[in-house]
Amino acid sequence: MLLSHLECTACGKQHQWRGLQNLCTACGKPLFAIYDLERARQLDRSSFRTREKSLWRWRELLPLPPDVEPISLGEGGTPLLRAAKFGRDVELWIKDESVNPTQSFKARGMTVAVSMAKYLGAKKLAVPSAGNAGGAMAAYAARAGLEAHVFMPSDTPRANIIECREVGAQVTLIDGLITDCGAEIAKRKQQEGWFDVSTLKEPYRIEGKKTLGYEIAEQLDWKLPDVVLYPTGGGTGLIGMWKAFDEMEKLGWIGEKRPRMFSVQASGCAPIVRAFEAGEQFAAEFPNAHTAASGLRVPKAIGDFLMLNILRQSSGGAIAVEDKEMIEAVRDVGSDEGVFVAPEGAACFVALKKLRASGKIAAGEKVVIFNTGSGIKYLDSFAD
Ligand SMILES: Cc1ncc(COP(=O)(O)O)c(C=O)c1O
Ligand SMILES: [Zn+2]
Repeated sequence: MLLSHLECTACGKQHQWRGLQNLCTACGKPLFAIYDLERARQLDRSSFRTREKSLWRWRELLPLPPDVEPISLGEGGTPLLRAAKFGRDVELWIKDESVNPTQSFKARGMTVAVSMAKYLGAKKLAVPSAGNAGGAMAAYAARAGLEAHVFMPSDTPRANIIECREVGAQVTLIDGLITDCGAEIAKRKQQEGWFDVSTLKEPYRIEGKKTLGYEIAEQLDWKLPDVVLYPTGGGTGLIGMWKAFDEMEKLGWIGEKRPRMFSVQASGCAPIVRAFEAGEQFAAEFPNAHTAASGLRVPKAIGDFLMLNILRQSSGGAIAVEDKEMIEAVRDVGSDEGVFVAPEGAACFVALKKLRASGKIAAGEKVVIFNTGSGIKYLDSFAD
């Protein structure tokens, strides 16, 4: 296995991977999995295409010893669809994550996190979820034979709550936001023996999410797009992809060109947009967070500084859109392209129009939008 150790994203302190780890024991910031990429340079990037269509085909670049069977439901390997009608004057592609198990890209993070947690001896998992992460964790925990405890805001879309219960999770609804759910887990986890799999509070969900970066590179013939639009809550996918780009460059698979990365948020919960515009290094908690795009209702993210760095380093940006615009865009995208996108994904299509209008995206540029989930879980947001 090429995984060598875990390293703090803020202070650089090294940690062992052979044991359940949450945050850096010195400074409380997220840990990254570090691989021996020198040794991995012998890997031929074209050899991955013929392997089975699951993100575990990137096995050498993921944790988990090679003789251990992953907890898998067939996640990843999703289509990159050309969207010529909606895109009109840009070269637009949709990475359609709605076809994952549990209908969202959260499956990517959870297959890796749950596989590693089980391998390292966890018996009970707990997660706060604004929506889709709970369902994904519950499904993979069920398959792994582990207990699942999901904490969700009581106004989370019904489909997410029902899904968690029907795949065997213990669901607790909290009158509050995802941050309150996380605080409840932090308070009880020691006594209950739960392993906390919150976004970026364990090191492997991001490893699953980074495969988004590997996949778009492969699907675009190893030439990264000019622009990436990513609906941002906790930011695991954004941070994961950026990590993947760095790894691929070290592997000699791509050059140093990076896409301009844009975080798309809801006007009712836009902590990253606010911090980006104010030139801040960290993002303050966003007050009274509200949006129908439940995955974007994350008022405070532990990886805020990592996201803000990426947006600036890539010469990208951050943009907020109104709920009304997102919900209208669902039908525009659906009728143009045949994909029933989640409001989070739809937000990126609105953002594309705004960024074209302001000239931040030029005509003819190659743009990838991440449709992170399916509209089918948000039926209450649509008129009858
Ligand atoms: C459909 C959907 N899109 C986007 C997000 C935000 O993802 P991230 O935490 O990687 O920023 C979520 C998170 O719950 C989600 O469910
Ligand atoms: Zn640290």
